[in-house]
Amino acid sequence: MSFNVENFRKNFPQLERTAGPRKLIYLDSGASSLKHSAVTDRVNTFNRFETANVHRGAHQVSSQGTENYEMARNQLQRFVNARLSSEVIFTRGTTEGINFMATGLEPQLKAGDEILITALEHHSNIVPWQVLCQKTGAVLKVVPFDAERGFSLESFDKCLTEKTKVAAFIFYSNSFGQRLPVESMVEKCRKRGVISVVDAAQAVLTEKIDVQKINCDALVFSGHKMFAPYGIGVLYLKESMQECVLPYQTGGSMIDRVSFKETSYADAPQKYEAGTPNIAGAIGLGVASQLVSPIIDDMHDHVDRLRQSLIANLSSRSSLDLYDFPGERHTGVVSFNIKDTHPSDVGTLLDKYGIAVRAGHHCTQPLMELMKIPGTVRVSLAAYNTESEISSLLETLDKIEEFF
Ligand code: ALA
Repeated sequence: MSFNVENFRKNFPQLERTAGPRKLIYLDSGASSLKHSAVTDRVNTFNRFETANVHRGAHQVSSQGTENYEMARNQLQRFVNARLSSEVIFTRGTTEGINFMATGLEPQLKAGDEILITALEHHSNIVPWQVLCQKTGAVLKVVPFDAERGFSLESFDKCLTEKTKVAAFIFYSNSFGQRLPVESMVEKCRKRGVISVVDAAQAVLTEKIDVQKINCDALVFSGHKMFAPYGIGVLYLKESMQECVLPYQTGGSMIDRVSFKETSYADAPQKYEAGTPNIAGAIGLGVASQLVSPIIDDMHDHVDRLRQSLIANLSSRSSLDLYDFPGERHTGVVSFNIKDTHPSDVGTLLDKYGIAVRAGHHCTQPLMELMKIPGTVRVSLAAYNTESEISSLLETLDKIEEFF
């Protein structure tokens, strides 16, 4: 049965709002997806009728909250196919997950060790590792990206040395949308005993994530890119890593026993979740994970059809530079520039016509420098977008090109 986009759209009331002269055309889901009504309804119900702290209270509302919070953890365990629910740690999002790893791994690093990232990384998968290098004397190495041919597994392999301790890499490029061969990259890391950290922020609406198949040590993502609230995300941390990754924060909830002299920690996941967690967010993310899992391939097929038709049109225009790189699969991202025009100007004009895109460096400044461009106009599609929205975008681009 084909994906029914009109029915699906009914779950996203924001699509009914206007933006400037028309109904909003939202093409910025790579930054944040819209929120599904089933998620916002569930979060509202928690906030209105179920509020109580978890893992603490002597009362039934707290026990019910704890059950729901732990049920969300089990839902996320299934979402990424983790072996154990204790491998699912709730965070504020992808950025916190990477900072968590870069902080928690500090005792494992010494001067001269290498941390490997790729040239495609988001700033959130660059800066935390730079800080770890400053603290330990480790060296940050970057797998090059070829602006003609794209990412190469061979280059990645060549950059792994006996000094590499950690490799952290993006699953799908947030700037260009292509998948990296993460399973093969992790396999190469495993052969050399390198800890692997996968940034799956852009993967969550594109493919069924399977951490056992990828076999990574850690994988991070955010709820707000998969129809769920802001301020909630997941760090998957393989059980075998839980001895060597220190807690990111300490305090209440994460302890076994505290005295003024010393403290022993609880087992994972509690030892990694200090303080009161984002309970409503976790429950909302659990709901989102259950909505997404059964329809992920249908959503991807729909998005990919739209993406292909947009690419076919844009690539026929000599006035545009299109940044489309090979990959086994792609998100709904289409990145381009109108020649001799700054991407921000195009983004601003599209906005005047009620079309929301992201324009700029997409938090990948080093990648844009390597490509020798100031940034791109980035359309990022999700399953609620339609062929008619793509037509409106193309008509508007015609007008903008005439304007320039
Ligand atoms: N990481 C998000 C993006 O690429 C914000 O737009």
